Amino acid sequence: MKRLLVTGGAGFIGSNFIQQALRRREDLELLVNLDLLTYAGNLENLLPVQGDKRYVFVHGDIRDRALVEELFSRYAFDTVVHFAAESHVDRSIVEPEIFLTTNVIGTQTLLDAAKRHWKLEPDSKYSTEYKPGVVYLQVSTDEVYGALGKTGMFTETTPLAPNSPYSASKASADLVVRAYRQTYGMPVNITRCSNNYGPYQFPEKLIPLMLHNALEGKPLPVYGDGMQIRDWLHVSDHCSAILTVLDKGVRGEVYNIGGNNERANIEIVRLILDELGKPESLIRHVQDRPGHDRRYAIDNTKITGQLGWAPAYSFQQGMRETIEWYLQNPGWVERVTSGEYLDYYSRMYENA
Ligand SMILES: NC(=O)c1ccc[n+]([C@@H]2O[C@H](COP(=O)([O-])OP(=O)(O)OC[C@H]3O[C@@H](n4cnc5c(N)ncnc54)[C@H](O)[C@@H]3O)[C@@H](O)[C@H]2O)c1
Repeated sequence: MKRLLVTGGAGFIGSNFIQQALRRREDLELLVNLDLLTYAGNLENLLPVQGDKRYVFVHGDIRDRALVEELFSRYAFDTVVHFAAESHVDRSIVEPEIFLTTNVIGTQTLLDAAKRHWKLEPDSKYSTEYKPGVVYLQVSTDEVYGALGKTGMFTETTPLAPNSPYSASKASADLVVRAYRQTYGMPVNITRCSNNYGPYQFPEKLIPLMLHNALEGKPLPVYGDGMQIRDWLHVSDHCSAILTVLDKGVRGEVYNIGGNNERANIEIVRLILDELGKPESLIRHVQDRPGHDRRYAIDNTKITGQLGWAPAYSFQQGMRETIEWYLQNPGWVERVTSGEYLDYYSRMYENA
């Protein structure tokens, strides 16, 4: 991995990944961040790497074929890590189309450019063995597997059964990636991670939303009974897992990423209130989201056993540091909670 294209690097996980990759990989020659700067993209997340000569930002759309081709020609990438996506389930319920164009067509545009520049054709020798030295990594989600009952875990062979337009678009993209592997011998990996938390997360997602509201003394809107169970992982551990897959992953394989850390949403909300010394009377139960998955849990034995990856953060330490980060960065929170976000917020949580 010398010449890296990262898409969606101004978002929550992408910006954490870029910081970690540049910090840990001195042998990286170049890291290009292609990001459209939608409501979720924030260049302020990348201030710590602004002075790094290896880092280049390109403002643009992954669906823009001419631009993506031109970037491949100019920079000769050997690695693609594809984060860019419409990522919020609630938004996908209101406006599904952009999820399909960004998440599916955007993925296919990147794969096409990689295929052409890495000279992979159906009849090339790389259809049966992977071309060495190049890799396309698709950052996917455990939500593609649908929901679990009270027991069981998602493994890499669990059938895809997405329940929201968001997860359907991510599952569709995964299938396109798989097809490029089977048809053109594209050296791919797909990672499917559980819910992330940590610094730079846009405050429409559970943990930063609850933190923000609790700090302001505003009601904390909790969907339904709050007993939806998610498997939480610190974003820094997700990023280290992606670096591990790039280094040691067997090309063509899917890797689930999770920290064996199942929590009900209401438990997280109570923990935040407790850490901040705020009363539980701030909790407001609001009508549940349609198709809301009850439980996700990741079986991470493939990545831990075969690649030797393990999360570094305990949930307690990770949550404490995350809360501290939001407390130390009120300006960041203030700037991202203005404008479009507020309109969206009042539409979604009118009865809170
Ligand atoms: N957040 C999680 O808990 C989680 C868990 C598992 C997997 N994922 C996946 O990880 C990836 C990143 O998630 P996130 O939470 O950082 O998302 P995010 O919404 O914070 O960031 C998405 C980024 O993509 C950019 N973007 C959107 N459309 C684009 C386009 N057409 N062209 C270029 N850039 C575009 C946005 O500007 C933003 O910077 C997504 O693919 C998501 O499905 C997220």
